[in-house]
Amino acid sequence: MSTFIECDNLVKIYKIADLEVVALQGLDLVVDPGEMMALIGPSGSGKSTLMNILGGLDIPTAGRVRVGEYNLLEMSRRDQTLYRRREVGFVWQQTARNLLPYLTARENVELPMALNGVSPRERRDRAADLLDRVGLANRMDHRPDRLSGGEQQRVAIAVGMANRPSLLLADEPTGEVDSEAADIIFQVMHELRDEFGVTIIVVTHDMFVANRVDRVVGMRDGRTSTEILRRRDGDMLVSDEEYAILDRAGRLQLPEAYIDALEMEDRVRLRLKQDRVEVFPQHDLANEKEPEVEEV
Ligand SMILES: Nc1ncnc2c1ncn2[C@@H]1O[C@H](COP(=O)(O)OP(=O)(O)OP(=O)(O)O)[C@@H](O)[C@H]1O
Ligand SMILES: [Mg+2]
Repeated sequence: MSTFIECDNLVKIYKIADLEVVALQGLDLVVDPGEMMALIGPSGSGKSTLMNILGGLDIPTAGRVRVGEYNLLEMSRRDQTLYRRREVGFVWQQTARNLLPYLTARENVELPMALNGVSPRERRDRAADLLDRVGLANRMDHRPDRLSGGEQQRVAIAVGMANRPSLLLADEPTGEVDSEAADIIFQVMHELRDEFGVTIIVVTHDMFVANRVDRVVGMRDGRTSTEILRRRDGDMLVSDEEYAILDRAGRLQLPEAYIDALEMEDRVRLRLKQDRVEVFPQHDLANEKEPEVEEV
């Protein structure tokens, strides 16, 4: 299977007056088509910066980023507009930012289709179908202020899916709703992924989502640092493994929990085995004899 998204050594530097903020510093990421991935990481680690770049809303400073056929680093204005209108759907954290307050749920979902020249009849049908899929068939003619926060976010997801995008990006869509509503939102996205094969990337602060997505990618300091991959065989969870990204310079970031567990700091000892590399905390060295040398 060929990959759908490829970020290679992606760099984003924001310049404000004389100050430079490095928001992404050499980020590598590969996403499969139809994958549902969660992005987690501390505040300021670059999650939104990455989402804005993938959404075609912001242009990286250096590196490579490809989504489907689009090279996001070298897009003409025209391609950028097409990309944003046809290929991506975006859901924001702030419920109010997603929907126009004076339009009903149905009208909100129809709007991006109208901008794309979809016929009125098809707009109505598609909007009704999407609102039904997000569980709001009986709320279609309500304005946002008559809907709960969670319901508004589900309308926003329907809006994001209106033009049948290949990529749905949601930047903390559950940031302002309670955990029950958050659960429904993840369920809805999951179903849309299964139905339409849309690739989904969700930024979140909640670790509980690990159960709801195929892969959790952790970010730190503008890089992807760890990954938790869920392997499923049918509905059964087969294994839950932690991955780390090895960058081109050979750098590896260990999960914070591992470092804490073994109280590792500054220097660690490495040992190459036939099929793996072992990492030992420095304080083990004192008690150890000559490390046995093994044929490799
Ligand atoms: N438009 C901007 N201008 C200047 N600096 C910015 C801009 N957007 C983000 N940054 C800076 O880039 C870094 C990464 O920010 P980003 O918003 O991507 O983090 P985040 O992971 O989404 O954080 P949060 O969890 O708080 O949303 C931060 O240091 C931030 O201050
Ligand atoms: Mg953010």
